[in-house]
Amino acid sequence: MENQMKAPSPEMIMQIGTGFWPSKILLTAIDFGLFTHIAQKGSLSAKEIKSALSLQCTDRHLFDFLDVLSSFGFLNREGLLENAQYSNSVDTDTFLDKNKPSYIGGILEMMNNRLYGFWGNLGDALQTGKAQNEAAKGERPVFEVLYENQDLLKQFVNAMTGVQMGNFMALAQQFDFSKYNTFLDAGGSAGVLSLLVAQHNPHMQCTTFDLPPVEPIAKATIEKFQLANRVKAMSGDFFNQALPKSDIVAMGNILHDWNEENKIHLIQKAYDALPKGGAFIAIEAIIDNERIKNPFGMMMSLNMLIETSDGFDYTFDDFNKWTKQVGFTSTQLMPLAGPASAAIAYK
Ligand SMILES: C[S@@+](CC[C@H](N)C(=O)[O-])C[C@H]1O[C@@H](n2cnc3c(N)ncnc32)[C@H](O)[C@@H]1O
Repeated sequence: MENQMKAPSPEMIMQIGTGFWPSKILLTAIDFGLFTHIAQKGSLSAKEIKSALSLQCTDRHLFDFLDVLSSFGFLNREGLLENAQYSNSVDTDTFLDKNKPSYIGGILEMMNNRLYGFWGNLGDALQTGKAQNEAAKGERPVFEVLYENQDLLKQFVNAMTGVQMGNFMALAQQFDFSKYNTFLDAGGSAGVLSLLVAQHNPHMQCTTFDLPPVEPIAKATIEKFQLANRVKAMSGDFFNQALPKSDIVAMGNILHDWNEENKIHLIQKAYDALPKGGAFIAIEAIIDNERIKNPFGMMMSLNMLIETSDGFDYTFDDFNKWTKQVGFTSTQLMPLAGPASAAIAYK
């Protein structure tokens, strides 16, 4: 009905259709380290930026690049063209200066270096049902292929930390940990969720569990947080071994990597590791049951097609069905940052 009364407008069509322009402008600025350079000096002229980034484009195109970043709100500008001074906005200064611990650019570096190109083949992915990344040709899981290359391993781990930081902070602060003592993060990557849970809940003992190549990175993060007395890193394979017993088992962006059969298998592993009353927490871009309000969740699911071929994101109804099938008695949905939620099942 609403659709019939609304006057037609090409605005949204054009905005989404040209969406890769602003996306690529921001990703390129991050790739150049533009916000990090500017943060070091406070503000820079276009000429100083051109020299710092070794750019050879015309001045006119450099002004276009910097001024469009200003019009998006990523740079502040005083003056015009040759007389302009560019400084970071509050957001880019906080989140896109590599020298600050609050840097979240890891995921955006990976968007630029890997996913931007792979998403060029979305049509092929939909037509063939096949992954379009480094693992596209083989039968091996994407992690095995990525982790053979130290640069890709680091880039992937940093990306995971960046994309989930806000959600991990929200869960560490919002979830009531008072009834529990031990926390296991299965597929915990750099260990940041375990570290934030330990930091905000001084009674908790945490373990971050992941494949062997990730362990040195997790250990280094634990050292950096100086929480080695309450957070430990453990190597293992969650498909081929039992998960260590724990009061809480978390999986952040894990279930969406796998098909339905493997999802249920992993939920069963979590169930087996928990005591009665224990909690299983999945932290993902859970899609709303009507599949209309969380486009990010559905785009993330298409990203799983590109990355894994048969992995997919899911609704809270799906989560309820699978956790009930495995034996969990009740569930809860806790909104976290932006489009992500914690789907929680109690044993
Ligand atoms: C998409 S990442 C999510 C990382 C992190 N939990 C987060 O929320 O950002 C998936 C993680 O699962 C780990 N993983 C994949 N297969 C695994 C396996 N068989 N056993 C243990 N960890 C595995 C990967 O190494 C990676 O760290």
